[in-house]
Amino acid sequence: MRFTNLNAILDMKKGKLVMITGCSRGLGRAMTESFIERGDTVVGCARNEKVIGELNAAFGSGPHYFQATDVAVDAQVESFCHMVLGKLGPPDLLINAAALVNANAKLWEVSEKEFSDVIDVNLKGTANLIRHITPAMIDRGSGIIVNFSSYWGRSTSPDVAPYCATKWGVEGLTNALSQELPPGLAAVAFNPGIIDTAMLRSCFGEGAGSYGTPEEWAKAAVPWLANLGPSDNGASVTCPGQ
Ligand SMILES: NC(=O)c1ccc[n+]([C@@H]2O[C@H](COP(=O)([O-])OP(=O)(O)OC[C@H]3O[C@@H](n4cnc5c(N)ncnc54)[C@H](OP(=O)(O)O)[C@@H]3O)[C@@H](O)[C@H]2O)c1
Repeated sequence: MRFTNLNAILDMKKGKLVMITGCSRGLGRAMTESFIERGDTVVGCARNEKVIGELNAAFGSGPHYFQATDVAVDAQVESFCHMVLGKLGPPDLLINAAALVNANAKLWEVSEKEFSDVIDVNLKGTANLIRHITPAMIDRGSGIIVNFSSYWGRSTSPDVAPYCATKWGVEGLTNALSQELPPGLAAVAFNPGIIDTAMLRSCFGEGAGSYGTPEEWAKAAVPWLANLGPSDNGASVTCPGQ
């Protein structure tokens, strides 16, 4: 969808406005489809241009909108957020789900580049969205920010030290943010549980197949996320049922 088409769909916006990073696959994709099914409006981003094109083809004739964006690149995040804020206003729910995991390896075997990539996406990417969206939420007086954490944001395992560092960082960042937000807003650190996605396959190999699918997970997770409110500010939670 082109920027200009968004004017035409403004009046079609319905339900909550939900902004999801990492919408191209896994949990972000399952949440996208599930929020849309509920009747909410979803704007999403990920890097994969082909999938973003497919999402716009499938849903873009409604009020939904998807844009190819690398969350680690602040200028791309600014462009995505500027467009959404200008045309649809601040999201009711910002879900920072985009993330990378390092290939299983001892910390001393992880290259500087791979370590930086994990930090840039999981931590700086999350902060980039918050930088460009929170002021508009504050102006309106409402908005919920959900930052995806992990069991590995509260415990550790070998071979995923860079990922653990970022998810412990997400917990700290979210808690500090919650102390900065004015009444009406909330920041929540959300551990989705363990779900069979490409990321889990990278960590667990075929063993990931013994866990539930993103679609099954979204059936419980999405209504729960949709019910978050200002009183949840500062919560560090695990998805119900996980
Ligand atoms: N699956 C689990 O068991 C589990 C457990 C604990 C926590 N989590 C967390 O849940 C979230 C979703 O994970 P998942 O399992 O669904 O992973 P996934 O299947 O690997 O999906 C990751 C998503 O993030 C996007 N992404 C990665 N780098 C990006 C970038 N630079 N800019 C924009 N988007 C980017 C990917 O899209 P592109 O490649 O198209 O950019 C993809 O849509 C993550 O925060 C993860 O840490 C998952």
